[in-house]
Formats: sequence, structure tokens, C-alpha cells
Amino acid sequence: MGFPSVRMRRLRRDENLRRLVRETRVLVGDLIAPLFVCEGEGLRAEIPSMPGVYRHSLDTLVEEARLLHHLGVPAVLLFGIPGEDEKDAEGTQAWTGEGIVQRALRALHEAVPELVLIADACLCEYTDHGHCGVLSRRKEVQNDKTLELLERVAVSQAQAGAAIVAPSGMMDGMVQAIRAALDNNGFEHTAIMSYSTKFSSAFYGPFRDAADSTPQFGNRRQYQMDPPNAREAVRETELDAAEGADIVMVKPALAYLDVLYRVRQAVPQPLAAYNVSGEYSMVKAAARQGWLDEKATALEIVTGIKRAGADMIITYWAKDLASWLREDQPAREEPKKHEA
Ligand code: PBG
Repeated sequence: MGFPSVRMRRLRRDENLRRLVRETRVLVGDLIAPLFVCEGEGLRAEIPSMPGVYRHSLDTLVEEARLLHHLGVPAVLLFGIPGEDEKDAEGTQAWTGEGIVQRALRALHEAVPELVLIADACLCEYTDHGHCGVLSRRKEVQNDKTLELLERVAVSQAQAGAAIVAPSGMMDGMVQAIRAALDNNGFEHTAIMSYSTKFSSAFYGPFRDAADSTPQFGNRRQYQMDPPNAREAVRETELDAAEGADIVMVKPALAYLDVLYRVRQAVPQPLAAYNVSGEYSMVKAAARQGWLDEKATALEIVTGIKRAGADMIITYWAKDLASWLREDQPAREEPKKHEA
């Protein structure tokens, strides 16, 4: 060994030393919990492909939100699941005042006013064809016609109590269109979290089961990004930032940590990462087999996402993490009193 002798292990010798030199910490305050809401009463139906994640009716949704708030989770991201017979070509249920998400927002705003309510603003859960926009006769998603619908979605969500609307459809100009619509309707304080870099990903598989949003034909490659492209991700982000996005996002997270890192360098806006359904379910599946330790793996995953540059993490582990992070505050023994 050379001189001066460098021994990296000196600062790894015990937990308190490691705590002192720890560079990244995930806090409960970084977490956003996705929640699924559907029609019904007293419903808490586990999603088969996402163990530990549920479709809630309004009443149990409110309970879940109370619990998350109690655990210190600052925000939830709402997804609506309308009845199968309520879907149509334009996704009307996404913007009517009596839509499932609008009712959920009003209920949550009333019951847990401090919780930050984020609403996913997209059409795919509400269209009968399952695409994120209106189709042309040639069955292509029409960008500018879709923008008009997204404006209605955003305004109706703001009206119902969303503090943040989160457009996820990857339409060009969606942030600018939504910003203008919100401002024109008196919602200049409603923020926009743009899914600015959303890749066309196989990791969304379990979510599409949960939200019943698999496209009836084709795929989303004409609007979601091609996974090999990172420079394009930076352009997408810069555009959304220029259009007025208050928060930008990279989604999915794990196969795209390099993109997170680059986007972090490129824009000053707060950056969210979406730790998506497939990233969750594969760990769950392995843990069930006894092949992985779920808690240790989940903590390592969210720490990696934060280290790559995310300010906030949307994760199906939010509730578990809130308890795990609390448990991990090492309890100290009572100091002994000095004897006289
Ligand atoms: C679409 C939407 C998707 C997700 C969130 N919003 C899926 C898609 O594009 O098909 C995926 C989330 C996840 O996989 O956890 N509105």
C-alpha cells in the first residue's frame, strides 16, 4: 500500500461513521403515492399484477389518503378507472365534473386538505380504444385535437381541487395549452407536473392491468419516446420547461437513470422520477419467491433514483417506505445519569 495510506474502509467501520459520510438520503417528504379510484363502495380490490396496490372506491380512497398523510407522505397522484360502459372515443369521463377523478378530488380536498393532490391528466383510461388522444380516420392519434380535450381535463381537475395537474399523454404543446387554459379559467395557481420524458416502455405492463388502459390496437410508439434516446429526452424536457412546466419528470426510472442525471444537469426545474409498475412488480414477484429482500431492495432502488438526480419519487412503495424510513431512525439508549 502506498503512502499516505489510503484506506477507504476507515469510514465504513460502523453505522454512525457511515451515516456521517452518507451522500444521499431518501426522505418521506420526497415521496408521491399513486392511487387508483373506481366506482363502488367499501371497495379495496387488490390489483393482481401489483400485490399491495389497490383499486379504491371513494370511501376507502379517503381512508388510504388519511393514512398516507398521517405517515408524512406529502402528495398523492390520482388515476381514475371509469366503468367499461362509460368509455367513449373522446374519453368524456376524463373531463366531466362528475367523473370519478373529479369526485375523488373533491372528497380528498375536503377530508385531507393538507395533502397535495396531483391528478394524472390523460385520456387513455377513458377512451374506448385505449389511446391517449383522439383518433383520425386512419386511426392515428391527432395531436392538436387532443390538446383541446386535455385543456378540459386539466380545468375540470383544477376546479375539483387538484393542486397539480400531470399531463402524461406526450402530446406536443400540451404544457403550453394546459397552462393557457388554466390561466384563462382563473387557475393561475394550479401547477403543472409534466411527464416531460415518458418512454414507450414494457415496464408499464402491470399498470395497464390496473387501469384497464391497454390500447385496443397498436401501441404508443407514435407519441411516447423511443427508449434508446437520451439527447431527445433533454430536448423534450427543455421544451416543457419553456412551455411552463413547474415540475418535469423522467419515466420510467430504473432503466433511465442516465436520462435522469442528464435532465438534472439540463434544467433547474424540480425533477420527479416515476418508479413505475413493472419496477415494483418484479421486486414483489421475486420477494414472494424468497429470492430478494423486498425492503432492502426497494430502499436501494429509491436511493439510486434520488442519487441520479430526482427531487421527488412517485412510487407504489410510498406507504411502506414511510414506515420503513421511520423504523430506520436508530433508537438510542437513554443516557445513564451521572452518579453524584
Ligand atoms: C398513461 C399512464 C401510464 C402510466 C401512468 N400514466 C401508462 C401508459 O402510458 O400506458 C404508467 C404507470 C406505471 O406503469 O406505473 N396515462
